[in-house]
Amino acid sequence: QHPGWPARLGPVRVAAGQVTLRPVRLRDAAAWSRIRLRDREHLEPWEPTGRGAWEARNHASNWPSLWSSLKAEARRGAMIPLVIEVDGAFSGQLTVGNIVRGALRSGWIGYWVAKDLSGQGVATAALALGLDHCFGPVGLHRVEATVRPENLASQAVLRNVGFREEGMLRRYLDVDGAWRDHLLVGITVEELMGTVVDRLIREGRATPL
Ligand code: ACO
Repeated sequence: QHPGWPARLGPVRVAAGQVTLRPVRLRDAAAWSRIRLRDREHLEPWEPTGRGAWEARNHASNWPSLWSSLKAEARRGAMIPLVIEVDGAFSGQLTVGNIVRGALRSGWIGYWVAKDLSGQGVATAALALGLDHCFGPVGLHRVEATVRPENLASQAVLRNVGFREEGMLRRYLDVDGAWRDHLLVGITVEELMGTVVDRLIREGRATPL
């Protein structure tokens, strides 16, 4: 019913180390919380506004309910909630959401990476693995992403893997306490020449194993 789930993707080698993706686990609580509490300033400007304080929302005790709602969405075929690992350590998340089948066959993709790994190709590699999975086993035709115009690093990552700008969504999403404009970017399967991971290797952004 849900092709492509559960999935283990990679590895891809980049400057930071070996990047792999695997399903979220209940025992991710401590690693998830530790990074999210430490990296609040790095993450909060770009994330949907949550209810309650950052500390409470990102406390380890909050992970089990988050994990079980992600898994429930995955089981019904609407989501692919993955953890980004670098050399086997929890380093962020990549999620494909709102997966719609039928004549649309589309979903969105979103991600975050721990601050201490910034600029070492982790998000680019994770996104390449995620896209290849969406267009391969999952069988999607289109993947989209929305990003704040101020988020230049994330826009660079999206460009690295071939996303194209489609427009500006005004006051689109409640992020960091206000309605924020977002750039809409998209990619369809026809735009790929081989896999995205192969493209990164050709461009010298990743090295073969
Ligand atoms: N201005 C312009 N470009 C920048 C800047 C900047 N201030 N900072 C970094 N970059 C570029 C880098 O040069 C690099 O591009 P390049 O490969 O063309 O040189 C790119 O941004 C970063 O690439 P990676 O190293 O692959 O990305 P990284 O692993 O550092 O992760 C990410 C980037 C995901 C944006 C991370 O910083 C993060 O988690 N930020 C907070 C959360 C967030 O913004 N998530 C994305 C929300 S949007 C969405 O999910 C669609």
